Amino acid sequence: MSDVFMNTYHRLPVVFTEGEGSWLKDARGKRYLDFGSGIAVNCLGHGYPPLVKAIADQAARFNHVCNYYQSDVSMAFAEKLVAACAGAGMEKLFLCNSGAEANEGACKIARKYSLKKYGPGRHTIVTLEGSFHGRTITTLSATGQEKFHVDFGPFTEGFLFVPPRDIAALDRTLDEKSVAGFLVEAIQGESGIIPQDAAYLEVAAKFCAERDILLMFDEIQCGIGRTGTFLACEAYKLRPDVVTLAKGMAGGVPAGAVLAGEKAAGVLQSGDHGSTFGGNPLAAAAGLVVLDTVNTPDFLAGIFRKGERIRAVIRDWNHPRVGAIRGRGLMIGVDIDAEAWPVLEAALEEGLLLLSAGPKTLRFLPPYTISDGEIDLGLEILRRVLDRF
Ligand SMILES: Cc1ncc(COP(=O)(O)O)c(C=O)c1O
Repeated sequence: MSDVFMNTYHRLPVVFTEGEGSWLKDARGKRYLDFGSGIAVNCLGHGYPPLVKAIADQAARFNHVCNYYQSDVSMAFAEKLVAACAGAGMEKLFLCNSGAEANEGACKIARKYSLKKYGPGRHTIVTLEGSFHGRTITTLSATGQEKFHVDFGPFTEGFLFVPPRDIAALDRTLDEKSVAGFLVEAIQGESGIIPQDAAYLEVAAKFCAERDILLMFDEIQCGIGRTGTFLACEAYKLRPDVVTLAKGMAGGVPAGAVLAGEKAAGVLQSGDHGSTFGGNPLAAAAGLVVLDTVNTPDFLAGIFRKGERIRAVIRDWNHPRVGAIRGRGLMIGVDIDAEAWPVLEAALEEGLLLLSAGPKTLRFLPPYTISDGEIDLGLEILRRVLDRF
């Protein structure tokens, strides 16, 4: 392990040197089954041949052109991504590099939309308590978890939090005189894989429509097919005004996007926003493979089925350490009656990579390409590990 990195992460003691499919290998040649995909990023596993080829072919052509121009590959990717989100009403996008950057873009769109239509003072963005929207100063301001706010103030003004599922609080807070946007994760990721209540979201969408407040879905963790529909909000049959994406978007190459529907697609104009690497050709080439692979009915149904299988197997254990099991598709949270981190350490020793989401919740975000045999193997390891706690 190197100590030149700033001490920002609580890391497990392993150094990876190779990957193939659902497996990673460390420097000593030990193999690990990957149930985390680098936190929902490597959605097609490691070394997926069409992805490797697309990146290599694009690298041989050109790595980058600046946004003075367009490139064939980023045009093809952008059009396909917008088409993949057209069912949710998306019409245009801005390409960037990460989730936080995508959410920054969403906040800018909401504020400018409101300013141009209603004048100053209507700039508040409302998010949920327990939400996670990123680590920049503004996306931390949008993140409704106090523990992330310690030490970094002052924050960007104009963010308010509401308790999840509390319709009265939402009604009070979504004030049409001061609020520009409501930003929400369809399934909260970092705080424990907590799906939103469908009735709550329906009312939220109605309030937003009636009060001309932009409804913005942060699909950074739950989008790109992870829950068995291309966007998680499709399962709620909602048409947001803005959607943000990142993580799995280019199968491991950094990429993010903010998409907008009819109301907001024209808000950002020349000079309003930019990003040097946004729409990078390597990311676009990789993203095209992700879209072509993931966005078919059979593939998406496979993601959903694998998720059901994982949940059913764990439920059938009736394990004394296992509590609530939540999530959809391959985005699963399992509450355990033990601290999660020692379980992650013990699983690592046994060759299984797990994630946590909160102090006592295990989080599974395996690659979509994981086989049933690999799922069974990983769950068998997990069961053995939990028996020791
Ligand atoms: C829902 C959600 N929004 C935003 C982010 C921030 O994304 P990034 O780390 O790419 O900036 C994350 C990252 O975990 C996330 O899960």
